Amino acid sequence: MRILVLGGGAREHAIAWRLSRDEAGHRLRIAPGNGGTPAVAETVGDLDVLDPVAVARHASRERYDLVAIGPDAVVAAGVADALRQAGIPAFGPMRAAARLESSKAHAKEQMRRAGVPSAAASTFSDADAALAHLRALERPPVVKADWLAAGKGVVVAETHEQAADAVRSLLDGAAPGAALVLEERLEGREVSAFALVSDRVVVPLGAARDYKRLGDGDAGPNTGGMGAYAPVPWFGPREMEAATASVFEPIAWRMSRDGAPYRGVLYAGLMLTERGPMVLEFNARFGDPEAQVLMPLLDGDLAAAMLATTTGDRSAMDGALGLRGGAAAVGVVLASEGYPGDPLTGRALTGADPAGPDDAGPALCFHAGTRADGDGTATSGGRVVTFVGIGTDHTEARERAYAAIGQAELDGGQHRSDVGLEVAAG
Ligand code: AMP
Ligand code: GLY
Repeated sequence: MRILVLGGGAREHAIAWRLSRDEAGHRLRIAPGNGGTPAVAETVGDLDVLDPVAVARHASRERYDLVAIGPDAVVAAGVADALRQAGIPAFGPMRAAARLESSKAHAKEQMRRAGVPSAAASTFSDADAALAHLRALERPPVVKADWLAAGKGVVVAETHEQAADAVRSLLDGAAPGAALVLEERLEGREVSAFALVSDRVVVPLGAARDYKRLGDGDAGPNTGGMGAYAPVPWFGPREMEAATASVFEPIAWRMSRDGAPYRGVLYAGLMLTERGPMVLEFNARFGDPEAQVLMPLLDGDLAAAMLATTTGDRSAMDGALGLRGGAAAVGVVLASEGYPGDPLTGRALTGADPAGPDDAGPALCFHAGTRADGDGTATSGGRVVTFVGIGTDHTEARERAYAAIGQAELDGGQHRSDVGLEVAAG
C-alpha cells in the first residue's frame, strides 16, 4: 500500500516503524516527520498537516491507499473530513466525532446519554456560577478546561481555594464563551485503554499505563507523558472485554445514533475505582507515549486493520491485530531541559539511533523533537525521544530501556527513573 502518516512525534515514528514491519510491505511517507523518521518513511516536505485542503490535495495527487492521522490537532482541524470527501481512506475520526476529545463538556454529555460510567460533573461558562457551585461541593473538584489545552487544562485541586484559583485563571485567559467542567474527583489506578472503532463495530486492542508527571513518584507538573508500559498486568483481556461492553460499545453506538460515527482508534483514559472502571477522558487518537510501547507488541497487519477500520469491515477488523503474549515493553521519554515549561532546544543528541524496519529490539528509539543537524542530530522540542525496551517480562524490558537511555547523551536531558518499576520484579 501507499501510506501517508501525519504527525511528527515519537508516536508517529512508532506507527510508521510498525507499518514498515508489516509483511505486506508498503511505500511509506510521513509529514512532517522528525529527525528520526527518515529511517522508516520518506519525508513529505512543505505540507501543512493542519490544512485539510492542502492535505487532501496532496493525498489525491499521490493516490495514497491510506492516510493514518496521529496527533489530536490534525484530527481536530478536520483533516479526516477533507480526506474522506476526496475519497481517500483516512484512519482517524472526522471532526464531529473527534469532539469526544476536543470538548470535555460534549464528552460528558455523550457519556451521560450512553450510560458510560464517569465522574459527576457540571459545565459552566460563567466564573461566578462556577464559584458558587464550587462552594457548595463537599470535596474540592477537578477543574477542566473545555478546549484542547495540550495537557495543561486539568487541575486536580487539593483544596476549594485551589479549585477556585483554577476556575479564575483558566477562564481569565480564555476565549469568550469558553466553558469549564467541574468534576468529582475519583480515586483509583489509571489505565489507557485502546479500541479500533468503526461506526458501531468495536475491536479492543489493549491497554497501557502512562506516566503523566515529570518526576519520579509522580512528583512535579503534568506533561504530555514521560513513559509507559504494556501490557498492564492488572488490566488484561478480561478487563478489556468488560470495558468494551461498558465504555467503548455504548459510546460508539451513541455517536452513530447522533450521525457522528467514530472511525479510528479510540483512547479511553480510565480510572479503576471501587465502583468499576470510570472514564476520565476520551482521546480521538493513539496515546503518546502509549503507542511507543503498544506498537512493538502488536501482531498482525497494521495497515490492513487501519484500512478495515476506515470502511467498517468487521470481519477484517476482528482478530486483525493482537498483543503478542509473553512479551512486555517499557518506554522512557528523554526530554529537554526546561520541559514542560520552556524547553531549551538546539542541543546535540547522540546515542539515539532511530528505529528502522529491521530493528526488533531489544531496545528501540523513537524520535520526537529532533532534527538532522549536519551529520548529527539536534533537539527541536520538549519531548526528544522515547527509548523502548522489549523483553519477555517487564523486568527485562525495563532493564533494556534504561540501558539504552544510559547510552544517550543530551545536555540537561531529563527522564524518569521509575517507569515500569511497579510491575518489575526485585
Ligand atoms: P484528563 O486530561 O481529563 O485525563 O486529566 C488529566 C489527568 O488529571 C488524568 O490523567 C488524571 O490523573 C487527572 N484527573 C482527571 N480527571 C480526574 C478525576 N475526575 N478524578 C481524579 N483525577 C482526575
Ligand atoms: N499519554 C497521554 C496522551 O497521549 O494524551
